[in-house]
Amino acid sequence: MPRRRLSQTAAPGVTDATLAASFAPALVAWQKQHGRHDLPWQRKRDAYSVWLSEIMLQQTQVSAVIPYYQRFLERFPDVAALAAADEDAVLALWSGLGYYSRARNLHRAARQVVEAHGGKFPGNQDALMALPGVGRSTAAAILVFAFGGRAAILDGNVKRVLARLCAIDGYPGEAAVAARLWRAAEALLPEQGLRAYTQGLMDLGAAVCTRRKPRCQECPAADLCIARLEGLVAQLPAPKPRKALPQRRTTMLILLRNGEVLLEKRPPTGIWGGLWSFPELDTDGDEIEVCAQRYGAEVEALPALPLIAHGFTHFHLDILPLPLRVCRWPRRTARPGQAWLPLADALGAAIPKPVRQILYILQRDSFY
Ligand code: ADE
Repeated sequence: MPRRRLSQTAAPGVTDATLAASFAPALVAWQKQHGRHDLPWQRKRDAYSVWLSEIMLQQTQVSAVIPYYQRFLERFPDVAALAAADEDAVLALWSGLGYYSRARNLHRAARQVVEAHGGKFPGNQDALMALPGVGRSTAAAILVFAFGGRAAILDGNVKRVLARLCAIDGYPGEAAVAARLWRAAEALLPEQGLRAYTQGLMDLGAAVCTRRKPRCQECPAADLCIARLEGLVAQLPAPKPRKALPQRRTTMLILLRNGEVLLEKRPPTGIWGGLWSFPELDTDGDEIEVCAQRYGAEVEALPALPLIAHGFTHFHLDILPLPLRVCRWPRRTARPGQAWLPLADALGAAIPKPVRQILYILQRDSFY
């Protein structure tokens, strides 16, 4: 019998010992036959490629990651190349993938690997977790895939698989529930075959044990799954307790001059940190007045564009894009942190998604 208790409820016939003994072999056999074997990062086992893929795959689907992963590896083929890069070049290659703190952390971590570890990724979980952006689950995945080590992963999909398999109730974002899930993840870990087992968990979560409409008939653990045996699959994992998100509003000033648009680099922290965006009006101030005061510029209003609603994890943002034609601009060259760019070049810069949407509208409507 394993010492730790995995399941909260006792389904007839499925004990903790059965789960611990039977889940891993069933999953590994299933992975070999039905799992994914030709993802781009599975062709390379070096720590740099594995680490890069795992960071990109945090909260992001495989299909979205693949083109970014390939472009990134072409441009920065190893950790030294990434460490030597400009942050702007890294952010530009990340543009559109979202959660930009990942890109900034990636860059910092590359520098740390070069400076503190002589350019070689450390092969133990604690040292990996000391790198910016590498949490316990990501460190475990790197350890397993790149170093052939033994450690438990627990990303969002795996939380769902284990919450159902072991009928662990409660919202996984709560520390006590997460602790139970980690205990289950560790108790289920086989002694060998960790690569196939870990990939199997990811594949099962992505293709079979999905959030909605799980394919329990195709699941190699159907006979072990306590949620299925007790009719709890649809209730697990428990959703986040609901709380209304605050609504914020901003106005973006789309300054247009001779076919170019003004972008400004945002401060390194906060939303869209380090990305290029349009200047904003925080208050309901008059845009003509603000342009005069802030830039010494003379501008005239063009017809407003439709409101853009953007969702963040902690609030909703309504963006009003206000195009303005620049009639007079006092300085010939842009100040540091400012850039006048043709629309096509602006679209190639490290910009947040709503800025991209606005630039597409400007391009489509030949707005200048
Ligand atoms: N999600 C997180 N890591 C992954 C991986 N290595 N393969 C597929 N999906 C993943």
